[in-house]
Amino acid sequence: MNSAFSHFGTLKDRIATKQANVMTVGLGYVGLPLILTINETGFNATGFDINAERVARINSGEQVISYFPPDRISKAIEGARFRATSDAERIADQDIILICVPTPLSPEREPDLKYVVSAVEVIARHLRPGQMVVLESTVWPGATSTVVKPILERSGLKAGSDFFLGFSPEREDPGNETHTTRSIPKIVGADDQHSRDLLEAFYSQIVSKAVPVSSSATAEAVKLAENSFRTVNIALVNEMKVAMDAMGVDVWEVVKAAATKPFGYMPFYPGPGIGGDCIPVSPVYLSWRARDVGSQTPIIDLARGNNERAPEMLADRIALDLSKRGAAVKGADILILGVSYKKDIEDTRVSPALALLNRLEEMGARCDYHDPYFPVMPMTRDNPELANRKSAPLTAETLAGYDAVVVTTDHTDVDYPLVAQSAQVIFDSRNTFDSRGIKVPGEKLIKI
Ligand SMILES: NC(=O)c1ccc[n+]([C@@H]2O[C@H](COP(=O)([O-])OP(=O)(O)OC[C@H]3O[C@@H](n4cnc5c(N)ncnc54)[C@H](O)[C@@H]3O)[C@@H](O)[C@H]2O)c1
Repeated sequence: MNSAFSHFGTLKDRIATKQANVMTVGLGYVGLPLILTINETGFNATGFDINAERVARINSGEQVISYFPPDRISKAIEGARFRATSDAERIADQDIILICVPTPLSPEREPDLKYVVSAVEVIARHLRPGQMVVLESTVWPGATSTVVKPILERSGLKAGSDFFLGFSPEREDPGNETHTTRSIPKIVGADDQHSRDLLEAFYSQIVSKAVPVSSSATAEAVKLAENSFRTVNIALVNEMKVAMDAMGVDVWEVVKAAATKPFGYMPFYPGPGIGGDCIPVSPVYLSWRARDVGSQTPIIDLARGNNERAPEMLADRIALDLSKRGAAVKGADILILGVSYKKDIEDTRVSPALALLNRLEEMGARCDYHDPYFPVMPMTRDNPELANRKSAPLTAETLAGYDAVVVTTDHTDVDYPLVAQSAQVIFDSRNTFDSRGIKVPGEKLIKI
């Protein structure tokens, strides 16, 4: 039997019997839920991260992701088949290595694969025959075969025969209790049949369904297609919001009614803009790669631009409405309610709420924020200057003291009836009050 067949057969058996040792490289919002799910499925699981402090917190059972069940991490640790580590030597013990490191934008707003490259360089130093490496980070079509593979092959081993390589995009939706890591089908793509078979065999054990596609580039493109679809539809619904508002029509009522159509329509909801590490970034990867191969994505680019301008447009709208009420944004005291980029998670990456806060302050307002997930504002890549600000208490007195309250994130754990009663003016970018049936007295609710 040649060595490719023997490596393939051995790994296939180890997957089928759940004897394979599995590692995620990166223990963030994607890598940690994934490795815990893998462990809960019955595999020996290791999470590798260069952030030694995070590794120590995980190993002590700390709840590092707020929406996890409280004992999820400690149970995995107690079960003795899961460990976090920052020791790269452990890579050599693994059969399957899943890369879940950040893929942000560079300062020039271009794809930045530096975290992927440095993770792959470390893996290459420990690579041994028979292992499988899967990239899960969002990248442009072609990155696995033209960036990752050559680095791994510097080890002298060949992809598809000595080791196996593929791409499987992460579809994690942080905080979503309906669609969990396990229940979301996973796309698997590779450039050779052995790797494709192994990816499918492995992920079929972990998630409800593995969906094989013909190449790693196709799998990479699936992820960008999904996120670009959302980008365009979010821009579309926000555009409709402004136009329909001018017509005296409530766009939320329109979307809710349109969503009763059983085909050809999917609801997207207006908001203050897009956030997180995913939706604002993926379309840039797609449009960058399109230009790279001599093509174009004008619709995606227009949608991206509109989404990026959304917080600024809301700030202008707030200024206009305040002036209609005889107040000026300059010198106004404004409470930003919610700084996470979406409800019920502790994540402020690329949050439109922070962009809006910054814009209002540039216009001369004095802004406080309240967010149950952030008693203290964390250090972020995009807004380091906001770090260490403290969440304002939410009481009848404090609310009444602001010229306006702007609902930017509709976290569940907020006393909205109190806000409705006590705030002077409420700008609601999330349809928070109407969707919960909370009556706001007087003329003080403005849906933006
Ligand atoms: N967060 C989401 O909802 C989501 C959803 C789908 C896809 N994605 C994609 O998944 C990838 C990971 O995103 P995330 O949200 O988990 O990022 P994250 O910032 O939450 O976590 C990344 C982790 O990787 C670690 N890391 C960085 N370089 C490393 C290295 N060389 N070796 C080991 N660890 C390293 C960091 O310390 C960090 O803990 C990105 O490509 C992202 O676009 C994210």
